[in-house]
Amino acid sequence: RIPEPQILTIFGASGDLTQRKLVPALYQMKLERKLPPELTIVGVARRDWSHEYFRDYCREGIEEYGGGLGNEQLWNDFAKGLFYCAGNIDHPESYQKLKAFLSELDDQRGTRGNRVFYLSVAPRFFAEAAQQLGNAGMLADPTKHRLVIEKPFGHDLASAQVLNRVVRQVCSETQIYRIDHYLGKETVQNLLVFRFANAIFEPLWNRQFVDHVQITVAETVGLEGRAGYYETAGALRDMVQNHLMQLFSLTAMEPPNSLDADSIRNEKVKVVQATRLADLENLDNSAVRGQYTRGWMRGKEVPSYREEDGASAESTTPTYAALKLYIDNWRWKGVPFYMRTGKRMPKKVTEIAIQFRDVPFLMFQSAAKQANPNVLALRIQPNEGISMRFEVKTPGNSLRTRSVNMDFSYDTAFGQPNTDAYSRLLIDCMLGDQTLFTRGDEVEASWRILTPLLQAWDAPAEADAIPLYEAGTWEPVEAELLLNRDGRRWRRL
Ligand code: BG6
Repeated sequence: RIPEPQILTIFGASGDLTQRKLVPALYQMKLERKLPPELTIVGVARRDWSHEYFRDYCREGIEEYGGGLGNEQLWNDFAKGLFYCAGNIDHPESYQKLKAFLSELDDQRGTRGNRVFYLSVAPRFFAEAAQQLGNAGMLADPTKHRLVIEKPFGHDLASAQVLNRVVRQVCSETQIYRIDHYLGKETVQNLLVFRFANAIFEPLWNRQFVDHVQITVAETVGLEGRAGYYETAGALRDMVQNHLMQLFSLTAMEPPNSLDADSIRNEKVKVVQATRLADLENLDNSAVRGQYTRGWMRGKEVPSYREEDGASAESTTPTYAALKLYIDNWRWKGVPFYMRTGKRMPKKVTEIAIQFRDVPFLMFQSAAKQANPNVLALRIQPNEGISMRFEVKTPGNSLRTRSVNMDFSYDTAFGQPNTDAYSRLLIDCMLGDQTLFTRGDEVEASWRILTPLLQAWDAPAEADAIPLYEAGTWEPVEAELLLNRDGRRWRRL
C-alpha cells in the first residue's frame, strides 16, 4: 500500500537524526517506489536556512549515511518536495507561519491537508511543541493529523504521565505515534511470527519448560558526541525503558487475538504491568549498573566515559545496566528475565535467548562435564537469525554428548534484509498503522517498573560508587554476580 499524499514536517531538522536516519530512510523508500509522488517534507529548526541549503543538507545525509542517490533524476524529483521553514519551538508565531506555509504547499503539491508532525527535538521540548501545535489548530483533525514523538518519552513515571496528559489534551491516542525504532527491526517483528505461526514452540514457552531468559543489547559505540543528552539519560532511559522493554514484552506477552494494533498492544501492556524488579527490598539483587573506563577497541585506544567530550569528570551516568525481572502471572511466575545493555562492549549484538530447563537426570557423559541445557537464541542484529542448541552424541565408541547448534540465517534464506527500521515505521505512520508504536499506557507501565532503580541511581553519589568496566570488555564483575548468585551465567556472545 502507498500512503496518501501528505506533508511530513520534521521538528529538529538540523539535528543528527534527520540527516543520518530520517531523510536517508525516506529516500530509500522513494527509490523503492513506496512513497506517494506528492510526499512533501518540511524541515523546521531555529537556524536560518534556505530551502536550497536544507536540500543540500539532506543530499549529504543520503550520500553519507544512506545508500547513495541512485540516479540524479530521482534525486531532483525528491528534492522538489523538500522545504525548510525556520521557527522557534516556543514561539506561537512560528506555528502560525508554519501553518500558513503548509497550506500553501497543499495547493502547490496536492497534499490535501494530510499532516505528520515528527518531533525529533530534545525531549524537554516534546510537551511544548505538542501544545503549540494543538493551540495552532494543527492537530485538530484526527483523521488527517498525526504526531510522532521520539524517545525517551518522559524521564521517569511522573514526567511520562504529565507528557501523556499534555499530548492527549491536544490530540487523541489514535493520532500519537511514540516511536521506538527497535519495533521497526525485521527480526523483532519476526518474533510474533516465530511464536504464533509455529505450533511447536508456544507449548514450551512458559515456567514449566523455561529456566530463564536473557536479553542482550550490546553496542560497541561510545558516546558519539551525544554527551549533552546522554548525561541526563544513561543506559536505563536510553535503552532499557524502550528498546529492551519492547524486546521483553514481545517475548513474554500472551498471544494477541489478532494482529490489529490494539490487540497486540493490549497484550504487551498486560505483561509489562505484571512485571517487577526481582528484589524490591534489595535493589543490588535486582540490577547492576556500570560505566566504561579507557580501553581498547579493535586495536585502538578509546577514552573513558568521563573523558568523552561533554561528560563530567565525576559522572556517575551508567553506560551499562543489567536487570533481573520477574513476571507475576500464570505463564512466567518464578522465571527470571535477565537483561543487559552496554556501550563499548566487545561486540555489537542484540539477542534474546530462551534457556530451557535441565534434563531431570543425565545418563551420559558430556564433553562439558555437565548437562548443557537447550537454548533457543533469536538474533536481532547483526546476522539476523535463529539458533537452537541441543545435544548430540559425539562420533565414536563412547557415549558422550556435545552441544551443537541448528542455525537459521536470514541472509542465507532471503539475502540481506534491506528495510531499515525507520523506513518501516515512517511508512506505517503515514498509513495510520499504530501496531509498531508504543501506546501511552505501555510507556507508563515500563517507567513504573524502573522507577525504584531510577531513584536509586539518580541519587547523588561519589564517583567511585559506580562499578566500572574497561571499554572493549564485557560487563563489570558485579553484573556477573547478579547471575552467578542464581547459579547461572551470562551468555558469551
Ligand atoms: C538509540 C540510542 O535509541 O539506539 C543509542 O539512543 C543507541 O544510544 C541506539 O546507540 C542503538 O540502536 P541500534 O539500531 O544501532 O541498535
